[in-house]
Amino acid sequence: MIPINLPILGQEEIDAVTSVLKNGPLTNALGMGPKVTAFEKEFGRFAQASYAIAVSTGTSALHLAIASTGIKPGDEVILPSFTFVATAEAVIMAGGIPVFADIDPNTFNINPEKIEEKITDKTKIILPVDLFGFPADLQSIRKIALSKDVFIIEDAAQAHGAKYFGKSVGVLSDATCWSFYASKNMTTGEGGIITTNNSELADIMKMLRTHGEKMKYSSISLGYNYRMSEIQAAIGLVQLNKLPKFLSKRKKNANKLTELLSKNNRLDLPNESENMISSWNLYTIKIKNSNEKERDNIVDLLRKKGIGATVYYVNPIHLMPYYRTNFGIYHLPETENIAKSVFSLPIHPKVTESQIEYIAQTLIKIL
Ligand SMILES: Cc1ncc(COP(=O)(O)O)c(C=O)c1O
Repeated sequence: MIPINLPILGQEEIDAVTSVLKNGPLTNALGMGPKVTAFEKEFGRFAQASYAIAVSTGTSALHLAIASTGIKPGDEVILPSFTFVATAEAVIMAGGIPVFADIDPNTFNINPEKIEEKITDKTKIILPVDLFGFPADLQSIRKIALSKDVFIIEDAAQAHGAKYFGKSVGVLSDATCWSFYASKNMTTGEGGIITTNNSELADIMKMLRTHGEKMKYSSISLGYNYRMSEIQAAIGLVQLNKLPKFLSKRKKNANKLTELLSKNNRLDLPNESENMISSWNLYTIKIKNSNEKERDNIVDLLRKKGIGATVYYVNPIHLMPYYRTNFGIYHLPETENIAKSVFSLPIHPKVTESQIEYIAQTLIKIL
């Protein structure tokens, strides 16, 4: 099976981890771990941000960033429902109420017009996601956020390398959260980081990351243990070096697949533009005039042919039992329609050109 994504690790990562195991330290307990410190510096530079705070997972990155805004119980956070469940989970963990807004069916990202419809006096944060690695419409979102005086926390868990108007995604947000889970464009096994240009938020996040401490044994707030280990950071430093190569192979594969699949007129293919460059974490396509049964059938047939086609977010968050029960009934027509008609194809750096040809030929034959 050609997997939909896979971690790509080699001798350099093994050597980096071995060196930490032999020489220590293992942890970043007082914010002094040399690997974590170096990784924060390098990732901050990559993301064009002044501050970077490395943490244990992308989910803890989201929780810390949301908590750092001073969110209070009952405050509302506007986010898409068509995303991984962690985006909404983090809102609730921080005491907020998730308010779901519908998406733009062309980008699969939150629709700024729908955000405006959901803004209330209780709105504290807008939480766009760069889904599948495609930048959300941050210019429009920023206009809304500035006029309503609310924070933007961006979920860029899938978007390492995505560019929005020539700059890294994340630069227009108050804080941006990234994941290094094994399926992401670069990995530390589990891991995450927050980037920001706001020194005040950065200080709060660092304090919350380690038990609400600025000084040892002197907590000034409820906190967490969300630290990244030195072992994770050692892997991250090597992976960050390899990221440009990973990204260019993903892009090459995506472009080739688009060239081959555009011969078939039943498919809506992902559409980059000069100002919207994808990180190509997932190559996600929509079948025109289709239904869920046909989509699932196509995915099954592809999988039988050894192609790891995968449906992401078949159940948008607002339709999940816990969220329906606790946060009300939503009808989000674009989200629900897209969840029934899209699927993703493998384009990760280990997919060869001949495999891309095989994927395209097989899909066209099935259609
Ligand atoms: C969009 C999105 N948000 C948040 C997360 C959570 O990241 P993690 O798995 O590192 O906790 C992920 C990935 O898993 C994700 O894809």
